[in-house]
Amino acid sequence: MALPRAPVVSRQSPSAWWQASRPPGVPTLPHRQWTSSGRAALWHAIRLAGESRQALSPSAVGGVLVPTYHPRTLIAPVVAQGLRTDFYPITAEGLPDLNQLDAYARLDTFALVLPHFFGAGRSLAGVRKWCTTRGIALIEDCAHALFGPAGERPVGHWGDYATASLSKFSPTPEAGLLASGTHALAPLRLAPAPWRDQLKIAKDLWDYRQLARQTDDDLVGLCRRADSGVVPLARLEPDPVSTVPEALEDGRLGGAMYAAPWLAHLVAREATSPIAAAQRRAHFTTYAHYLGGMPELQCPVPAPAAESAPYVYPVWFPEAAAATTAYRALLGAGAAVFRWDRPWPGTPRLDDDYGGRWAEEVLQLPCHPSLTQPQVERTALAVAALARHCL
Ligand SMILES: Cc1ncc(COP(=O)(O)O)c(C=O)c1O
Repeated sequence: MALPRAPVVSRQSPSAWWQASRPPGVPTLPHRQWTSSGRAALWHAIRLAGESRQALSPSAVGGVLVPTYHPRTLIAPVVAQGLRTDFYPITAEGLPDLNQLDAYARLDTFALVLPHFFGAGRSLAGVRKWCTTRGIALIEDCAHALFGPAGERPVGHWGDYATASLSKFSPTPEAGLLASGTHALAPLRLAPAPWRDQLKIAKDLWDYRQLARQTDDDLVGLCRRADSGVVPLARLEPDPVSTVPEALEDGRLGGAMYAAPWLAHLVAREATSPIAAAQRRAHFTTYAHYLGGMPELQCPVPAPAAESAPYVYPVWFPEAAAATTAYRALLGAGAAVFRWDRPWPGTPRLDDDYGGRWAEEVLQLPCHPSLTQPQVERTALAVAALARHCL
């Protein structure tokens, strides 16, 4: 009986879709193209950045700067195009260290992918300047932060290209956006989504609707058990991926040449709903209420700004073993939780890098509005009980 890890179709959805105003962010950028997923949007952003650089200097397209903390779907679009991954370390704020970044770029590095980790829009003024000075395209990965403020500009307005993943913000199982404030985007000439995918999205929407009815009794039990000292742990499936071809398969990039299924266009309106955004902020505040005051746990991002729509509440355990126990116990109790603990094969261990630590120590607790307030409270209480149990 697992809780939904992403928004599902609910009774609230229709009103939220149609009342949706369009707060500034990726969906309001002047140049936009739909794609079948966030990774497909990244694939095209990297291709376009490469083509612009090649127009200036044909031999100068070889590598893309990518963070050591990532899901595989962020790296697959680089590797699938035969490009080199130039991994860069991240600071405790989830940004590149501008004093070190030159050491990771090579002469033929032409783009830098930077996600707004966890959905906390931050100013990218320093990185923007670094990229402009070196002629490197900034690809602002907004998979976790579709709209809202990011320092002096709205989310999506720092990059040469911005990419978004609509499945994280609306009940569509797959869809993405490629957008830009500065580069007119020629039509991507994508083939219509195959009928199989069109039908699959209808089935997924229906299947995921069932998830909205899940209960969280196991989480209540987990709190009691953690306090009494014994917690049941789900098995962590061994990672079947050790080679790049396996990781490419796992990166599920097949749809880059297809348009998003038409049903996705309809349901994705919910993505920019101010009602959903307010619920997300409320869930973040609830997690912070229960977990923010615990001295052993940290949250690596500030409280969300007004008008933003946080993706997850990141909870940072001080040690990997405790985070792993908590993660396994939460999975076993059906909690909605993510951990990016399966980095791309060959991701280096770098000095002064928080990426490697976060991959093990940070659990991501979703803030989407298909979770009810009591479900979020019980998840937070379970994490607090597990922290007391493990630390
Ligand atoms: C930071 C980041 N970028 C890109 C992606 C890829 O998005 P999608 O799942 O829509 O392909 C994800 C998905 O988890 C992500 O978290």
